[in-house]
Amino acid sequence: MPAAGAPGSGTAEWYRHFGTVDAPSSSPCYADWSLHIADDPGLIARIDEWPYTKRQPLLMLAAARFLGARVSPYPEFRKFLDGHWDEVARIVLSRATQTNEVGRCATLLPSLAAIASAEGRPLALIEVGASAGLALFPDRYGYEFDDGSSVTRLGPVRFGELPEPPVLRCRTAGPVPLPGSLPEVVWRTGIDLNPLDVQNPDDVAWLEALIWPEQEFRRERLRRAIAVAREDPPLLVAGDLNDQLLSLAGLAPADAALVVFHSAVMGYLSADGRARFRATMQALAQDRGCHWLSNEGETVIIQEDGSAVVPEMDPSRLRGNFLLLHNGRPVAITGPHGQSLDWL
Ligand SMILES: C[S@@+](CC[C@H](N)C(=O)[O-])C[C@H]1O[C@@H](n2cnc3c(N)ncnc32)[C@H](O)[C@@H]1O
Repeated sequence: MPAAGAPGSGTAEWYRHFGTVDAPSSSPCYADWSLHIADDPGLIARIDEWPYTKRQPLLMLAAARFLGARVSPYPEFRKFLDGHWDEVARIVLSRATQTNEVGRCATLLPSLAAIASAEGRPLALIEVGASAGLALFPDRYGYEFDDGSSVTRLGPVRFGELPEPPVLRCRTAGPVPLPGSLPEVVWRTGIDLNPLDVQNPDDVAWLEALIWPEQEFRRERLRRAIAVAREDPPLLVAGDLNDQLLSLAGLAPADAALVVFHSAVMGYLSADGRARFRATMQALAQDRGCHWLSNEGETVIIQEDGSAVVPEMDPSRLRGNFLLLHNGRPVAITGPHGQSLDWL
């Protein structure tokens, strides 16, 4: 993100960075559009009329896709933007980047299963920053863990029922404690500033638009996960995680092992917000024996002692990845979309 307070050149640089660093490996189309936008002062001036946090490339591109922009050469995309600018602005200003990546369940599953097994109890889950809550169903999806020499399959086989649950594929390395079966989940809830509703077609269309155009496999598994969630929608509480967490945790069944988890959320909080959250997690650990799974990018890691630096880890291993921590202790490096799990 460019520094706030540098309008104009800052936004162009943001799109150039997105087009050269973030997008190329996942979406040649977004890379191409972003680089052209960076060199298009007229469009940058219009984007700069929006509040700073609304200028981010993924939000603007997803809004255009939500409205029907197709993968195309830039001049065609530019024409689309010109014809739909008021609607693009309306979507940008009313929506946020709330990608709900169900693939992340694959990187959380071994830890969840280990907690259930160590506690000898089923799980009660609270996801903070849950979006539509799709990661609250780790017990309902299929998994394929591939360590390069063998594939371990887990998960429900539901012959005759349509649609089938998604199968989440994950490359593994190191001594991943793969479970023999899926953990039992008896209670699942989430908190989000703006929970998305799997029954609402507009919310579902927005979730699909947030997936980068060429990543059809992610859209397909999103659709399958939404079908699973629709069968038994989770309770999602609207509000700030710091305001809602303690009262929600108080509702968890006492005979289940409580786990609070989050992925790709801490970047949205201020440093103060993260410190407050860590203090709440420490209180929940003490009073309730609650477990804490944090799956976040390198810049917002919060460890048990509050530090964000993992001294024993080569920072280059983390670049572009997430770090999974259990109760503040690093346990694995994970692919940001759940595509890999490198156990420490
Ligand atoms: C990038 S999405 C990730 C969603 C989900 N954790 C996943 O991995 O698929 C981040 C989510 O965090 C939510 N969020 C951000 N700040 C929050 C806060 N202070 N309290 C509750 N939710 C928040 C956003 O609304 C958004 O839905």
